[in-house]
Amino acid sequence: MYKAFYKLERNPFEITPDPSFLFPTRRHNEALAALYYGVRRHKGLVVLTGEVGTGKTLLLRCLLQSLKQSEDVKYAYAFNGRLSPLEFLQYIAGDLGLPAAGKNKSELLLELARYVVSRGEKKLTTVLVVDEAHLLSADILEEIRLLTNLETAAEKLLQILLVGQPELDDKLDSIDLRQLKQRIALRAHLSSLDLNETKGYIERRLELVGCPAPAKVFPAETIAAIHSHSRGTPRLINTICENALIVGYARQAASVTPEIIDNIAQDFRLQIQTSPSRKASHETDLRDAAKALLALYAQLQGAQVREPELTVSLPLRVNQS
Ligand SMILES: Nc1ncnc2c1ncn2[C@@H]1O[C@H](COP(=O)(O)OP(=O)(O)OP(=O)(O)O)[C@@H](O)[C@H]1O
Ligand SMILES: [Mg+2]
Repeated sequence: MYKAFYKLERNPFEITPDPSFLFPTRRHNEALAALYYGVRRHKGLVVLTGEVGTGKTLLLRCLLQSLKQSEDVKYAYAFNGRLSPLEFLQYIAGDLGLPAAGKNKSELLLELARYVVSRGEKKLTTVLVVDEAHLLSADILEEIRLLTNLETAAEKLLQILLVGQPELDDKLDSIDLRQLKQRIALRAHLSSLDLNETKGYIERRLELVGCPAPAKVFPAETIAAIHSHSRGTPRLINTICENALIVGYARQAASVTPEIIDNIAQDFRLQIQTSPSRKASHETDLRDAAKALLALYAQLQGAQVREPELTVSLPLRVNQS
């Protein structure tokens, strides 16, 4: 419906990661280059982190699209971090076309090692791609460490890409995983878009679907409102813009106004974004305030305050969005 009104050939703001919509910011370019270089130059372990919705899966899809065209590359793509180590190894062996059924962990590791080494001897590239890697258990990360040992004197035989939210870094920082951390050859990080990039991002998506006048549909002040509410997170930008086009069409408005964006942000409760650390300190503040009140109450009552009573959880809930 809004597509005809704004003269668009297709939906410009789908939230599924579609490589044909890639808007190459400097950081996205650098990250893609790190992934590509790591695989092609057999660097071994590459880690890409980024906040929720910043384009990690999109970059992986772009990479895999280009690797698919090379006959010398074979990859396994795992995106379910909540597997047991055995299920994880079965999954990647299966994805590489190896017989995995009924095998135990050591047999699977041996099978994978044989496969990777024999491909290495033929100068072929084998890649293990793990998206959502922040969800991997320490046990699976340990299996991955074992796989990083497959190497010749000159190069790594299995290329491993670990991609996930910033919690992945915290995991890799843990003392138990220091051996894996030391094996990271390349790292990249994605962050949210600045105002200029947000403008370029929105206009590029509109151009790609044939919009004749992107700057008319989303004028500068509207883009500023989108950037402010989305904090430059691409997935949120998409959601806001798609909803804005629906409302704009309903109002038969040639241009989306900042007021439309403010309303959408309110509907999606985007203004109530509390980061985990602020949430924690907010909860601590509330707890401290309650302690002070209880102490005061106890003083007034002439009663003594006992520590256990102060640790009961507060009935107050902090808004989480
Ligand atoms: N540079 C970009 N160019 C075009 N679209 C982008 C870009 N970055 C992100 N997007 C879009 O933003 C949305 C979210 O991207 P994606 O799913 O890749 O994020 P993610 O980092 O994998 O998020 P999560 O941490 O939730 O897995 C998708 O629609 C994707 O196409
Ligand atoms: Mg993702």
